[in-house]
Amino acid sequence: MTQINVEIINQLSDNYSYIIFNNSNSSSIVVDPSEDEKIIKVLKKKKLKLEYILITHHHNDHTSGVLGLVKEYPQAQIYSPSELFSLTINKISNGDKIKTPLNEFQVFAAPGHTLDHVVLCDKKNKLLFVGDVLFRLGCGRVFEGTIEQMHNSLNKLLNLPDDMTVYCGHEYTLNNLKFLEHLFVQNDILENTKKQILRDLKLKNKSIPFILGDEKRSNPFLNPKCEMASKLKKNNNYSNLEFFRYLREEKDNF
Ligand SMILES: [Fe+2]
Repeated sequence: MTQINVEIINQLSDNYSYIIFNNSNSSSIVVDPSEDEKIIKVLKKKKLKLEYILITHHHNDHTSGVLGLVKEYPQAQIYSPSELFSLTINKISNGDKIKTPLNEFQVFAAPGHTLDHVVLCDKKNKLLFVGDVLFRLGCGRVFEGTIEQMHNSLNKLLNLPDDMTVYCGHEYTLNNLKFLEHLFVQNDILENTKKQILRDLKLKNKSIPFILGDEKRSNPFLNPKCEMASKLKKNNNYSNLEFFRYLREEKDNF
């Protein structure tokens, strides 16, 4: 099987966009472009032809590079859950499949952060593009949907296989780590995760991608039953949803 590669592109102050490609042909896919010039530079250097632009949600910091990319690569097809700058798009929603020359993505609706938010799941290559639904040790803010919707969206991710590699929309990990240290008593999971994150940041200057199974053990936003979740400083008998609501509200004010 041809190895699929994901190139991570730093964008704006803390965004990530992604280029997906392999070494056997020149096709490529870009996910959530913010700054087109930076992406075009990498595509040219790697002699890649952009064929697909995939969007997880309508926020400007995930879409502002689309027009510039389409100008340079007019053949690129756009897959998005919402209309974009009056461009012709393939509108995607829950259950859709996106077949590309490189792979196949399943589309899952994941409302909460925005109502149109989708996550893109390539089960065969174990790749998961989650936009602003899930972050390492955290999750996205609930801007358009309800707490219930966001909780359900995270539950969908919780049910995916542990060995998926997760690519998210922002580098928020250190702040998320500080929040967990503030709200939870010191514990081995937190200490070990912190060590791993600091090592990742030192080596790669980024804390992503991460492994979904690790996150299921360490991220109480994703898994209210994980060991970390049981180490909350204050006493509680929250339901899963109430616990998520509490965490999200505390984080919004952190
Ligand atoms: Fe967003």
